Order: sequence, then structure tokens, then C-alpha cells
Amino acid sequence: MTETANTIKHVASPLARQTLLDQELTRPVAGRRPVRILPWLQVVKIGGRSIMDRGHEAILPVVDELRKLLPEHRLLILTGAGIRARHLYGVGLDLGLPVGSLAPLAASEAGQNGHMLASLLAPDGVSYVEHPTIATQLAIHLSAARAVVGSAFPPYHHHEFPNSRIPTHRADTGAFLLADALGAAGLTIVEDVDGVYDIDPNGDGGDKAKFIGETTAVELAKLKGTTPFDPALLEVMANARHLAHVQVVNGLVPGRITAALRGEHVGTIIHTGAPKT
Ligand SMILES: Nc1ncnc2c1ncn2[C@@H]1O[C@H](COP(=O)(O)OP(=O)(O)OP(=O)(O)O)[C@@H](O)[C@H]1O
Ligand SMILES: [Mg+2]
Repeated sequence: MTETANTIKHVASPLARQTLLDQELTRPVAGRRPVRILPWLQVVKIGGRSIMDRGHEAILPVVDELRKLLPEHRLLILTGAGIRARHLYGVGLDLGLPVGSLAPLAASEAGQNGHMLASLLAPDGVSYVEHPTIATQLAIHLSAARAVVGSAFPPYHHHEFPNSRIPTHRADTGAFLLADALGAAGLTIVEDVDGVYDIDPNGDGGDKAKFIGETTAVELAKLKGTTPFDPALLEVMANARHLAHVQVVNGLVPGRITAALRGEHVGTIIHTGAPKT
């Protein structure tokens, strides 16, 4: 056997002799903090139901605010799915479709909202980009334009976990996973409420709802009732690598998105489990 063939067989790697299943063994290599890929990026998730479904009355002021933010920030704007996904879940579940069939269809509804938003921002050089482009070419797109729009839904698609009949990983989780993986400067979740309350302010007894100005993902996970985002978001926040917090703001109040991106406290700040820098 030639020497070359012999060296090829013995690839030097610090993980070569270890099982990847033992975190004690992999920690010296895999335990380090990942690099921040786009540390100047601001990610903004626009609610499908709370903003997009309301039509021009809600969307146009938000578009105006985002447009004015372009000289100040480079943005990845991600849209949620809204009412069409809920209709789709209704029909799909009635037909007995598995969650892995419903997830990509709901994701396409989030994408439709993104396409509409991007069309309104097109005069400012903003376009809609698909997930593979976000994964590999976001930097070049954001060198050519101040912002791009994408679907907030994570592309778990037919790999969606079957622990629920409705996709577990939806728009808020997708937006957080992206923002954290990119090492973004911030994530702002835009809703139609001022932030997170102890109970749904629009539900039964909502007039008694107490506003939570600042909290942690761990504390929120203990809340019995609903939240204005996917419950899975709290799980991924607990394991964050970069994003120290997210802010949930009311997009129906002009100026709140702008203030949040400037680092002001204008909604609910939720601290993650990311290690302190
Ligand atoms: N604890 C809570 N605090 C605040 N709002 C809550 C709470 N629980 C439920 N909500 C409700 O969540 C609503 C927002 O709904 P939802 O989060 O489904 O919309 P969305 O984020 O626009 O949807 P999508 O996931 O399609 O983007 C608010 O209008 C509010 O009534
Ligand atoms: Mg929401």
C-alpha cells in the first residue's frame, strides 16, 4: 500500500476516536461558542394573524416604519402564517393528514405573507428570498439591499416532530432559530398586543390581565395559560447561543418597532439562556 493511501485512511480529528453521544467527551471540541455570522443584523418577525391578516390598515403603517428604519439597520424581515394556515390546519386535520404534510403547507402561507410585504418594500430594493438563499447568501443580498424578507416558518417540513398534530415549530421558533444561528444583534417579535401578559388580554377575563414587562424564558415556561408565540420558542430560547433576549412589541402602535430596534424597552423583554458575553 502506498504511503498516501495509508495517510488518507487515518484522518486526524479531535473527535475521531469518540462517540458523539457523550457530551463529556465532545465538550472540549464542541462546547465553544459559535461565531457570530451577521452580528449587525436585526431580525424582525411580523405576525401573520396579528398584523398581516388585518390588511392595509395595519400593514401599511408597519411598512412605512420599516422603510424609515432602512438607513439605520440592516434587516431580515420574517413573516408568520396567519389565518390561511389555520384554515389549512382545519381542512388538513379533517382529512387526517399527518403533521409532516401540514408543516410545509403552513410554511408556504407564511411565505405568501412575505411575498406581499416584500412587494410593498420593493421600491426600496427589498425582495423576498427563499430559505436556501437565507442559509447561504444572506450576506451578499444584504450588501446589495438594506433588508430582505423571508418566511419565518422553519423548514422542518416533512421532518416536523410528530408530537403534535399541529406543527410544533412555527413562525416564532423559526425566527428565533435563524436569529440565534446568525448571531444577529436582535430579534423583535411584532404582535397586536403591547407584549406578554399573565393571561391572554383578549381572552375570557382578559380585562384582569397583568402586563409582564421583563421576564425570562424559564419563568414564562411556568405560565399555565397561552402566550402570543409558539410554546416551542421557550424551549429554543433556553438553549440559545447568542441572543441574550428578544422583545415582543405592539406593531399597531407607530414607533414601537423603531424604538425596540434602537434598544429601548417598549414591550416585553424575554431573557434567554444564552451565556453572558
Ligand atoms: N399571555 C398572552 N399575552 C399576550 N397575548 C396573548 C397571550 N396569550 C394569547 N395571546 C394572544 O395572542 C394574540 C396574537 O396571536 P398569535 O401570536 O397567534 O398571532 P401572530 O403572532 O400574528 O400569528 P403567526 O404565528 O401566524 O405569526 C394576541 O392578540 C393575544 O390575544
Ligand atoms: Mg404571535
